[in-house]
Amino acid sequence: MATEQVTSSSSKTGGSPRASKGITTSSTAEYFSKNLQQVGFSSQTKAVLTTLKEAVDNALDACEEHGILPEIEVFVEKAGAGSLKNSDQIRIRVEDNGPGIEPDDVPKVFGEYLASSKFGRGRCSRGQQGIGISAATTWAQLTSATGAKIQTKTVRMRKAFGATVEVDIKHNRGVLKEKTTFDWDREHGTSVEFLIDGRVQLNGEAGLLSYLNGTALVNPHLKLHYKLPELERHTVDRVTNSIPEVPEATEPHPHTMKLGEFIAHSHLFGRVKVKDWLKRGFSRVNEGTFKDLVKNGVKASFLEKSVDAANETEFKELFMSMQNTTLMAPSTKSVLSIGEDALSKSIKRLGDVDFFAVVSRKPTICDFKPVQVEVAIARLEDKSIDSDAPIQVLRFANRVPLQFDKSACAIVQAITSVNWRSYGIAQPRESLPQGPYILAVSVVSPFIKFKNASKETIDASDELVEEIRRTLIQAGQKLSKHIKKESKANELEEKLRHIEQFGPVLVEGLCRITDASKERKKRAEEGLRKLLGRDAQATEEELQKAHDHLEAQMAREAAASGGDEGFEVPVDSDAESEEEAPASRAKAKVKPAASSKKKSKK
Ligand SMILES: Nc1ncnc2c1ncn2[C@@H]1O[C@H](COP(=O)(O)OP(=O)(O)OP(=O)(O)O)[C@@H](O)[C@H]1O
Ligand SMILES: [Mg+2]
Repeated sequence: MATEQVTSSSSKTGGSPRASKGITTSSTAEYFSKNLQQVGFSSQTKAVLTTLKEAVDNALDACEEHGILPEIEVFVEKAGAGSLKNSDQIRIRVEDNGPGIEPDDVPKVFGEYLASSKFGRGRCSRGQQGIGISAATTWAQLTSATGAKIQTKTVRMRKAFGATVEVDIKHNRGVLKEKTTFDWDREHGTSVEFLIDGRVQLNGEAGLLSYLNGTALVNPHLKLHYKLPELERHTVDRVTNSIPEVPEATEPHPHTMKLGEFIAHSHLFGRVKVKDWLKRGFSRVNEGTFKDLVKNGVKASFLEKSVDAANETEFKELFMSMQNTTLMAPSTKSVLSIGEDALSKSIKRLGDVDFFAVVSRKPTICDFKPVQVEVAIARLEDKSIDSDAPIQVLRFANRVPLQFDKSACAIVQAITSVNWRSYGIAQPRESLPQGPYILAVSVVSPFIKFKNASKETIDASDELVEEIRRTLIQAGQKLSKHIKKESKANELEEKLRHIEQFGPVLVEGLCRITDASKERKKRAEEGLRKLLGRDAQATEEELQKAHDHLEAQMAREAAASGGDEGFEVPVDSDAESEEEAPASRAKAKVKPAASSKKKSKK
């Protein structure tokens, strides 16, 4: 169970404040309770979004870890006036069908900072830090004096467990209150409810709808129900039943670390030989690496020493030698992609779209970290969208929407660096392109480097920006092909219309000059119509004949067998959406006139 793997580093930073020669230490919880703005609680609207986001991201992670198709119910309501100036009291509840949490782990999960099952796992999980949900509990406690209300059940438990969790800020630990057990109509799952001060924003930067719709877009396997203030309850169905396969985790690559991280990493291993720590704790380190390290000046005896007993100078020497040792690039196997298929199905839910293209690049290495970039571009049919307005950009990191600090983000920097004009889209110099387009860019990596602890912006390293740029260029090329085809078709239509307009005048004139009979003139007009492909009547007549023939045959067969079954043939598949195709194909009856008209229009 995920919950059994919950580890805590609070022993290092927790404990009651101690006084030693006038220097005091404070607990991790104390630090975060004073700096909640660093983890997404810097405004009232952000507080609501962050609380919802932390709970939904956790639910998705938990389901994914356990191979469960997620079904999540989100409920947000205004419960009254808040205690902060100009704030409302907001109730936020998120219920999932995930694995549930063992009662012993409930206080750690919701009331203790740096308690997580995801530390250093090398997986593309949404959560990484063990901070998110405890920060939400702290905000609830600080603003409305209530903790997080939890209900949870694992398959192992006969009854569900309920409690209110509060953060003991002085000691960085969770405290349980109002414990109960009860019968629950589900085998496993978790419901978490917060009462916080804040303000609800539906759209835009801190928009709850923007977050939920974005989450549904890049999690095509999610079934989501939500009830938000001033809106009816809404369900977003999943478009695929395949649960993302969580790839094997990879250990960090030594070349991706800074000295401090390198030393801190060793603390996770306790009393093992330096050699064993390096081999087990990192990817791409093997016996050959040790030979190279010794060649680079590391003492062979040091590699046999316990890592626990190594001092800072020794770590530094080892670290420097490691940086100078050639290692294989990290493996890209640990990257979890959304996939072109799923993204294609998902993007059609964004509105009435008349064109879309999806590009899923192969995983690659950027800054020594495995990473995969996927891009979807869609053109909206909505004619009310101002063609001078910047396109709508949706950014995602490990399948979580990013909603703030756009301009500093690697994704936006890559978008503005592409010359979209060459693909047929308007673009002011070094700005976002313009028009009725949605551009969704997803970056997935087990080691995403964010600019801040609130995970709002992806750090714009040159290598990553270049990789995103290449993916965008591929998507741009697909779009440009379509736009070219479209303008060719428009040109052709324009020419046909001209001929249509002047053709009869020409026929009239020619017939007059050649003194042709009425019959000859009629044939010339018909020939011209056929040439232009506008003669629907002939095709319709032929199709009607075929249809009558079929019906007559069916009637003969039915009479012979005494049965009365209908005859079914596929309809024009162009008219169907991909998802609807199988069902409508099975049931559709032939409609000769309608389908021939459609063909004749083309
Ligand atoms: N709904 C849930 N179902 C099952 N386990 C959960 C659920 N929510 C949280 N957990 C467990 O609690 C742990 C702590 O969650 P928390 O959000 O604090 O940290 P995180 O998700 O690991 O990292 P981050 O701070 O980046 O979000 C998770 O690692 C997970 O094991
Ligand atoms: Mg989390």
